[in-house]
Amino acid sequence: MIVENEEIQVTSLLSSTFQSEADAQENILRPKTLADFQGQVRIKENLSVFIQAARSRGDSLDHVFLIGPPGLGKTTLASIIANEMGAEIRMTSAPALEKPKDLAGILTNVTEGSIFFIDEIHRMRPALEEMLYIAMEDFEIDWVIGQGPAARTIRIPIPRFTLIGATTKAGQVSSPLYSRFGITCRIEFYQEEELVSIIRRSARILETSIEESAIRLLAKSSRGTPRIANRLLRRLRDYASVLGNGTINDEIVRVSMERLGIDGQGLEEQDRNILRTIIKFYDGGPVGAETLAISVGEAIESLEDFYEPYLIQKGYLKRTPRGRMATSMAYDLLNMPYDRKPDENQGILF
Ligand SMILES: Nc1ncnc2c1ncn2[C@@H]1O[C@H](COP(=O)(O)OP(=O)(O)OP(=O)(O)O)[C@@H](O)[C@H]1O
Ligand SMILES: [Mg+2]
Repeated sequence: MIVENEEIQVTSLLSSTFQSEADAQENILRPKTLADFQGQVRIKENLSVFIQAARSRGDSLDHVFLIGPPGLGKTTLASIIANEMGAEIRMTSAPALEKPKDLAGILTNVTEGSIFFIDEIHRMRPALEEMLYIAMEDFEIDWVIGQGPAARTIRIPIPRFTLIGATTKAGQVSSPLYSRFGITCRIEFYQEEELVSIIRRSARILETSIEESAIRLLAKSSRGTPRIANRLLRRLRDYASVLGNGTINDEIVRVSMERLGIDGQGLEEQDRNILRTIIKFYDGGPVGAETLAISVGEAIESLEDFYEPYLIQKGYLKRTPRGRMATSMAYDLLNMPYDRKPDENQGILF
């Protein structure tokens, strides 16, 4: 298990962001309104329309599905939606819901128009998923009373609520569940400019002085991820107060990133280790995710959810039907000679 802690080991600084709701500091920096939520313009514009429309009809918002890698703002968006709807929000995560009565207990207690947020919805148990379908569609739940031949099912009406489901793994969500969400938001990695405004906003809240060029350097090293940008900003603040005069400048960013083992595009040692392992031990791939996770000593979830999406986005890694492959860019990054046939790099093997 990954323990959340500010004194986290240097090598796990980034990947520890993988599970991090426990990070109390995160709440201070969490935007509360759509206007304050930086970047993701299309998502914001759409949500703003749907929220206004629902409000003007006096209706509850359609169910919302939030998809994206860790730390991009799914939980944040869920609270913002509740806030903008002026609605109550209840938060849980799918693994916490064990028995049908856990879910039934919540569903029968939601209030009219309120928001029910289920994190990691891809981990919902099948028996509970069935209950959720009916709740989402008909605002009723089926409840079995009695046992054996005397058992019968009654339908209990529940208030009209909005379900917000979040996942890092849309591919693992069953299609009946997926199809019951009226609004789907795919949150992508943030652009450099967007991270710049996130960092500027966070520095203001944390009352930290940071030079414009240092903001830009930090944005480049933040893996397109607000949570990482914020976390690195706090580390830089520490370095600036110990090594410098309190102001974060380019030199502080450069020295700190070197000490943290993070390069100019946000890759840490484990990223390079993953690519090196594929190249050295598996001839550049394809190699299955489970084998790869064991080889690099990483949990499969953090390999798949945290490391891979960014390596893929940066063009260093490919997912093929037969497994993971390092691209020619990965060889270049590691200064290793690339001598594979072009066909192999496409994942078309003969
Ligand atoms: N668009 C944004 N603008 C400003 N800050 C943001 C934005 N998105 C995320 N953040 C910051 O990043 C932090 C992490 O976001 P959040 O907890 O919502 O991520 P998540 O997608 O729910 O991650 P996980 O998959 O790990 O649950 C928040 O505390 C918030 O401060
Ligand atoms: Mg979250």
